[in-house]
Amino acid sequence: MRHAGSDARGSRHAELIGWWSAERRDLPWRRTRDPWLVLVSEVMLQQTQVERVLPYFETFAECWPTPEQCAAAELADVLAVWQGLGYPRRARNLWRTAAIISERHGGRVPADLDGLLALPGVGPYTARAVQAFAFGIDTGVVDTNVGRILARWQGRRLSPREAQRIADELVPAGESWVWNQAMMDLGAQVCTRRDPSCGQCPAQRWCAWAVEVLGPEPSGQPDPADRSAGVSARQAPFEGSDRQARGRLLAALSGGSLPTEQAAAAMRLEHDEARAQRLVEELTAEGLITAVGDRLRLG
Ligand code: ADE
Repeated sequence: MRHAGSDARGSRHAELIGWWSAERRDLPWRRTRDPWLVLVSEVMLQQTQVERVLPYFETFAECWPTPEQCAAAELADVLAVWQGLGYPRRARNLWRTAAIISERHGGRVPADLDGLLALPGVGPYTARAVQAFAFGIDTGVVDTNVGRILARWQGRRLSPREAQRIADELVPAGESWVWNQAMMDLGAQVCTRRDPSCGQCPAQRWCAWAVEVLGPEPSGQPDPADRSAGVSARQAPFEGSDRQARGRLLAALSGGSLPTEQAAAAMRLEHDEARAQRLVEELTAEGLITAVGDRLRLG
Protein backbone atom coordinates (compact mmCIF):
# COMPACT_ATOMS: atom_id res chain seq x y z
CA MET A 1 0.00 0.00 0.00
CA ARG A 2 2.89 2.32 -0.69
CA HIS A 3 1.54 5.64 -1.95
CA ALA A 4 -1.30 4.03 -3.82
CA GLY A 5 -3.29 6.44 -5.91
CA SER A 6 -6.92 5.66 -6.61
CA ASP A 7 -6.07 3.83 -9.87
CA ALA A 8 -3.53 1.64 -8.16
CA ARG A 9 -6.07 0.98 -5.45
CA GLY A 10 -8.72 0.12 -8.02
CA SER A 11 -6.45 -2.42 -9.66
CA ARG A 12 -5.65 -3.97 -6.29
CA HIS A 13 -9.29 -4.35 -5.57
CA ALA A 14 -9.91 -5.97 -8.92
CA GLU A 15 -6.96 -8.34 -8.52
CA LEU A 16 -7.69 -9.46 -5.01
CA ILE A 17 -11.42 -9.86 -5.56
CA GLY A 18 -10.69 -11.64 -8.87
CA TRP A 19 -8.36 -14.05 -7.09
CA TRP A 20 -10.97 -14.62 -4.41
CA SER A 21 -13.84 -15.39 -6.76
CA ALA A 22 -11.80 -18.37 -8.00
CA GLU A 23 -10.40 -19.46 -4.61
CA ARG A 24 -13.13 -18.62 -2.11
CA ARG A 25 -13.99 -21.14 0.57
CA ASP A 26 -17.63 -22.04 0.91
CA LEU A 27 -18.30 -21.61 4.63
CA PRO A 28 -21.70 -21.75 6.32
CA TRP A 29 -21.42 -18.29 7.88
CA ARG A 30 -20.85 -16.90 4.41
CA ARG A 31 -24.26 -18.17 3.34
CA THR A 32 -26.08 -15.97 5.84
CA ARG A 33 -26.26 -12.26 6.60
CA ASP A 34 -28.22 -12.89 9.78
CA PRO A 35 -26.46 -10.65 12.33
CA TRP A 36 -26.89 -13.06 15.24
CA LEU A 37 -25.44 -16.01 13.31
CA VAL A 38 -22.62 -13.85 11.97
CA LEU A 39 -21.86 -12.79 15.56
CA VAL A 40 -21.91 -16.40 16.76
CA SER A 41 -19.52 -17.45 13.98
CA GLU A 42 -17.12 -14.60 14.64
CA VAL A 43 -17.00 -15.32 18.37
CA MET A 44 -16.22 -18.97 17.60
CA LEU A 45 -13.56 -17.96 15.06
CA GLN A 46 -11.82 -15.60 17.49
CA GLN A 47 -9.37 -18.19 18.77
CA THR A 48 -10.21 -21.31 16.81
CA GLN A 49 -9.44 -22.62 13.31
CA VAL A 50 -12.16 -22.70 10.66
CA GLU A 51 -12.28 -26.52 10.38
CA ARG A 52 -12.83 -26.97 14.11
CA VAL A 53 -15.53 -24.31 14.21
CA LEU A 54 -17.65 -25.79 11.37
CA PRO A 55 -19.60 -28.50 13.29
CA TYR A 56 -19.99 -26.30 16.38
CA PHE A 57 -21.41 -23.46 14.34
CA GLU A 58 -23.94 -25.76 12.65
CA THR A 59 -25.10 -27.17 15.99
CA PHE A 60 -25.30 -23.79 17.70
CA ALA A 61 -27.27 -22.31 14.78
CA GLU A 62 -29.74 -25.20 14.95
CA CYS A 63 -30.19 -24.98 18.72
CA TRP A 64 -30.40 -21.18 19.06
CA PRO A 65 -31.10 -19.47 15.74
CA THR A 66 -32.11 -16.22 17.50
CA PRO A 67 -30.74 -14.27 20.47
CA GLU A 68 -34.06 -14.72 22.29
CA GLN A 69 -33.78 -18.49 22.04
CA CYS A 70 -30.20 -18.41 23.29
CA ALA A 71 -31.09 -16.07 26.17
CA ALA A 72 -33.90 -18.43 27.21
CA ALA A 73 -31.53 -21.43 27.35
CA GLU A 74 -29.73 -22.58 30.48
CA LEU A 75 -26.07 -21.53 30.48
CA ALA A 76 -25.21 -25.17 31.20
CA ASP A 77 -26.78 -26.19 27.88
CA VAL A 78 -24.85 -23.54 25.96
CA LEU A 79 -21.62 -24.65 27.66
CA ALA A 80 -22.41 -28.29 26.86
CA VAL A 81 -22.79 -27.50 23.13
CA TRP A 82 -19.54 -25.49 23.32
CA GLN A 83 -17.79 -28.46 24.92
CA GLY A 84 -14.49 -29.22 23.13
CA LEU A 85 -14.29 -25.94 21.21
CA GLY A 86 -12.23 -24.31 23.94
CA TYR A 87 -12.14 -20.91 25.62
CA PRO A 88 -15.57 -21.46 27.21
CA ARG A 89 -15.77 -17.90 28.50
CA ARG A 90 -16.75 -17.10 24.93
CA ALA A 91 -19.89 -19.22 25.37
CA ARG A 92 -20.79 -17.51 28.64
CA ASN A 93 -20.24 -14.10 27.03
CA LEU A 94 -22.37 -15.02 24.03
CA TRP A 95 -25.18 -16.15 26.32
CA ARG A 96 -24.99 -12.88 28.27
CA THR A 97 -24.86 -10.97 25.00
CA ALA A 98 -28.00 -12.79 23.83
CA ALA A 99 -29.81 -11.56 26.95
CA ILE A 100 -28.66 -7.96 26.41
CA ILE A 101 -29.74 -8.03 22.77
CA SER A 102 -33.13 -9.44 23.75
CA GLU A 103 -33.72 -7.04 26.63
CA ARG A 104 -32.18 -3.79 25.41
CA HIS A 105 -32.16 -4.01 21.62
CA GLY A 106 -35.54 -5.57 20.87
CA GLY A 107 -33.91 -8.85 19.83
CA ARG A 108 -31.80 -7.22 17.09
CA VAL A 109 -28.02 -7.16 17.07
CA PRO A 110 -26.95 -3.49 17.05
CA ALA A 111 -25.17 -2.29 13.92
CA ASP A 112 -23.30 0.66 15.44
CA LEU A 113 -19.78 0.27 16.74
CA ASP A 114 -20.49 1.53 20.25
CA GLY A 115 -23.53 -0.70 20.63
CA LEU A 116 -21.53 -3.72 19.51
CA LEU A 117 -18.51 -2.92 21.66
CA ALA A 118 -20.74 -2.72 24.73
CA LEU A 119 -21.63 -6.41 24.38
CA PRO A 120 -19.66 -8.92 26.51
CA GLY A 121 -16.93 -10.66 24.50
CA VAL A 122 -17.21 -8.26 21.57
CA GLY A 123 -13.95 -6.39 20.94
CA PRO A 124 -12.86 -4.20 18.03
CA TYR A 125 -12.30 -7.18 15.74
CA THR A 126 -15.63 -8.90 16.34
CA ALA A 127 -17.58 -5.62 16.26
CA ARG A 128 -16.20 -4.72 12.85
CA ALA A 129 -16.62 -8.26 11.52
CA VAL A 130 -20.33 -8.05 12.37
CA GLN A 131 -20.57 -4.61 10.78
CA ALA A 132 -18.93 -5.82 7.55
CA PHE A 133 -20.33 -9.35 7.27
CA ALA A 134 -23.87 -8.82 8.53
CA PHE A 135 -24.61 -5.18 7.74
CA GLY A 136 -22.27 -4.53 4.79
CA ILE A 137 -20.84 -1.43 6.50
CA ASP A 138 -17.59 -0.16 4.97
CA THR A 139 -15.02 -0.91 7.66
CA GLY A 140 -11.74 -2.80 7.77
CA VAL A 141 -11.80 -6.07 9.70
CA VAL A 142 -8.39 -6.67 11.30
CA ASP A 143 -8.03 -10.20 12.60
CA THR A 144 -4.72 -12.01 12.93
CA ASN A 145 -4.62 -12.85 9.21
CA VAL A 146 -5.39 -9.34 8.06
CA GLY A 147 -3.02 -7.79 10.60
CA ARG A 148 -0.26 -9.96 9.19
CA ILE A 149 -1.06 -9.03 5.57
CA LEU A 150 -1.11 -5.30 6.29
CA ALA A 151 2.24 -5.37 8.11
CA ARG A 152 3.82 -7.30 5.25
CA TRP A 153 2.38 -5.02 2.58
CA GLN A 154 3.74 -2.01 4.47
CA GLY A 155 7.02 -3.75 5.31
CA ARG A 156 6.91 -2.76 8.96
CA ARG A 157 5.24 -3.43 12.26
CA LEU A 158 2.05 -1.39 12.68
CA SER A 159 0.36 0.15 15.70
CA PRO A 160 -3.31 -0.80 16.22
CA ARG A 161 -4.42 2.66 15.13
CA GLU A 162 -2.36 2.51 11.92
CA ALA A 163 -3.52 -1.00 11.07
CA GLN A 164 -7.18 0.02 11.50
CA ARG A 165 -6.72 3.19 9.46
CA ILE A 166 -5.02 1.35 6.61
CA ALA A 167 -7.59 -1.44 6.69
CA ASP A 168 -10.44 1.12 6.57
CA GLU A 169 -8.86 3.00 3.68
CA LEU A 170 -8.48 -0.14 1.62
CA VAL A 171 -12.16 -1.16 1.72
CA PRO A 172 -13.72 -0.46 -1.70
CA ALA A 173 -16.92 1.55 -1.20
CA GLY A 174 -19.94 -0.73 -1.00
CA GLU A 175 -17.85 -3.91 -1.18
CA SER A 176 -16.95 -4.39 2.42
CA TRP A 177 -18.33 -7.93 2.65
CA VAL A 178 -16.40 -9.32 -0.30
CA TRP A 179 -13.21 -7.36 0.36
CA ASN A 180 -12.89 -8.41 3.99
CA GLN A 181 -13.70 -12.05 3.24
CA ALA A 182 -11.07 -12.02 0.47
CA MET A 183 -8.46 -10.55 2.82
CA MET A 184 -9.16 -13.27 5.39
CA ASP A 185 -8.80 -16.04 2.82
CA LEU A 186 -5.62 -14.51 1.45
CA GLY A 187 -4.17 -14.67 4.96
CA ALA A 188 -5.43 -18.19 5.60
CA GLN A 189 -4.42 -19.71 2.27
CA VAL A 190 -1.55 -17.69 0.77
CA CYS A 191 -0.04 -15.15 3.16
CA THR A 192 0.33 -17.69 5.93
CA ARG A 193 2.33 -17.06 9.05
CA ARG A 194 5.15 -19.52 8.55
CA ASP A 195 5.26 -20.27 4.86
CA PRO A 196 3.78 -17.53 2.65
CA SER A 197 3.31 -18.49 -1.02
CA CYS A 198 4.45 -15.16 -2.40
CA GLY A 199 4.87 -16.66 -5.89
CA GLN A 200 1.13 -17.34 -6.04
CA CYS A 201 -0.02 -14.18 -4.30
CA PRO A 202 -2.26 -11.73 -6.17
CA ALA A 203 -0.85 -8.95 -3.96
CA GLN A 204 2.79 -9.66 -4.73
CA ARG A 205 3.42 -6.48 -6.73
CA TRP A 206 2.46 -4.14 -3.94
CA CYS A 207 3.89 -6.10 -1.03
CA ALA A 208 7.12 -4.97 0.61
CA TRP A 209 7.66 -8.37 2.24
CA ALA A 210 7.21 -10.35 -1.01
CA VAL A 211 10.15 -8.39 -2.40
CA GLU A 212 12.21 -9.71 0.52
CA VAL A 213 10.96 -13.27 0.29
CA LEU A 214 11.29 -13.56 -3.51
CA GLY A 215 14.43 -11.45 -3.89
CA PRO A 216 17.81 -12.98 -4.70
CA GLU A 217 19.42 -12.14 -1.35
CA PRO A 218 17.57 -12.84 1.88
CA SER A 219 18.37 -9.82 4.03
CA GLY A 220 17.69 -11.58 7.33
CA GLN A 221 15.05 -8.99 8.19
CA PRO A 222 12.49 -10.16 10.74
CA ASP A 223 8.95 -10.72 9.45
CA PRO A 224 7.21 -7.33 9.81
CA ALA A 225 4.11 -9.19 11.02
CA ASP A 226 5.85 -10.29 14.22
CA ARG A 227 4.15 -8.45 17.08
CA SER A 228 2.33 -6.13 14.66
CA ALA A 229 -1.21 -4.92 15.48
CA GLY A 230 -3.89 -7.60 15.43
CA VAL A 231 -1.40 -10.44 14.92
CA SER A 232 -1.86 -12.89 17.76
CA ALA A 233 1.11 -14.40 19.53
CA ARG A 234 1.45 -18.16 19.22
CA GLN A 235 -0.80 -20.04 21.61
CA ALA A 236 0.94 -21.50 24.63
CA PRO A 237 1.29 -25.32 24.56
CA PHE A 238 -1.98 -27.03 25.48
CA GLU A 239 -0.49 -30.18 26.97
CA GLY A 240 -0.19 -29.76 30.72
CA SER A 241 -1.82 -26.31 30.68
CA ASP A 242 -4.51 -24.91 32.97
CA ARG A 243 -6.67 -24.69 29.85
CA GLN A 244 -6.41 -28.45 29.39
CA ALA A 245 -7.23 -29.19 33.03
CA ARG A 246 -10.18 -26.77 33.03
CA GLY A 247 -11.43 -28.34 29.80
CA ARG A 248 -11.32 -31.77 31.42
CA LEU A 249 -13.46 -30.66 34.33
CA LEU A 250 -16.00 -28.93 32.08
CA ALA A 251 -16.13 -32.06 29.90
CA ALA A 252 -16.80 -34.22 32.96
CA LEU A 253 -19.52 -31.83 34.16
CA SER A 254 -21.28 -31.83 30.77
CA GLY A 255 -22.26 -35.37 31.66
CA GLY A 256 -23.91 -34.19 34.93
CA SER A 257 -22.86 -32.84 38.32
CA LEU A 258 -19.93 -34.31 40.26
CA PRO A 259 -18.93 -34.42 43.95
CA THR A 260 -16.48 -31.54 44.50
CA GLU A 261 -13.95 -33.99 45.92
CA GLN A 262 -13.75 -35.66 42.50
CA ALA A 263 -12.78 -32.44 40.69
CA ALA A 264 -9.02 -32.96 41.00
CA ALA A 265 -9.29 -36.46 39.54
CA ALA A 266 -11.47 -35.21 36.67
CA MET A 267 -8.71 -32.71 35.86
CA ARG A 268 -6.03 -35.42 36.35
CA LEU A 269 -4.54 -33.26 39.07
CA GLU A 270 -4.77 -35.74 41.96
CA HIS A 271 -1.08 -35.04 42.61
CA ASP A 272 -1.67 -31.29 42.88
CA GLU A 273 -4.75 -30.56 44.98
CA ALA A 274 -3.77 -26.92 45.45
CA ARG A 275 -3.74 -26.29 41.71
CA ALA A 276 -7.01 -28.18 41.30
CA GLN A 277 -8.62 -26.04 43.97
CA ARG A 278 -7.38 -22.84 42.37
CA LEU A 279 -8.83 -23.87 39.01
CA VAL A 280 -12.20 -24.73 40.57
CA GLU A 281 -12.22 -21.32 42.24
CA GLU A 282 -11.39 -19.58 38.96
CA LEU A 283 -14.05 -21.46 37.01
CA THR A 284 -16.58 -20.59 39.70
CA ALA A 285 -15.61 -16.90 39.70
CA GLU A 286 -15.96 -16.84 35.90
CA GLY A 287 -19.49 -18.20 36.15
CA LEU A 288 -18.68 -21.40 34.26
CA ILE A 289 -19.38 -23.78 37.14
CA THR A 290 -21.40 -23.57 40.38
CA ALA A 291 -21.03 -25.34 43.71
CA VAL A 292 -24.35 -26.74 44.92
CA GLY A 293 -23.85 -28.24 48.38
CA ASP A 294 -20.89 -30.59 48.06
CA ARG A 295 -21.30 -30.99 44.29
CA LEU A 296 -20.20 -29.02 41.24
CA ARG A 297 -22.31 -28.41 38.19
CA LEU A 298 -21.94 -26.64 34.84
CA GLY A 299 -23.16 -23.06 34.48
N1 ADE B 1 -12.06 -15.99 10.53
C1 ADE B 1 -12.75 -15.02 11.13
N2 ADE B 1 -13.80 -14.64 10.41
C2 ADE B 1 -13.81 -15.41 9.32
C3 ADE B 1 -14.65 -15.52 8.20
N3 ADE B 1 -15.72 -14.74 8.11
N4 ADE B 1 -14.33 -16.42 7.28
C4 ADE B 1 -13.25 -17.19 7.43
N5 ADE B 1 -12.42 -17.14 8.44
C5 ADE B 1 -12.69 -16.25 9.39
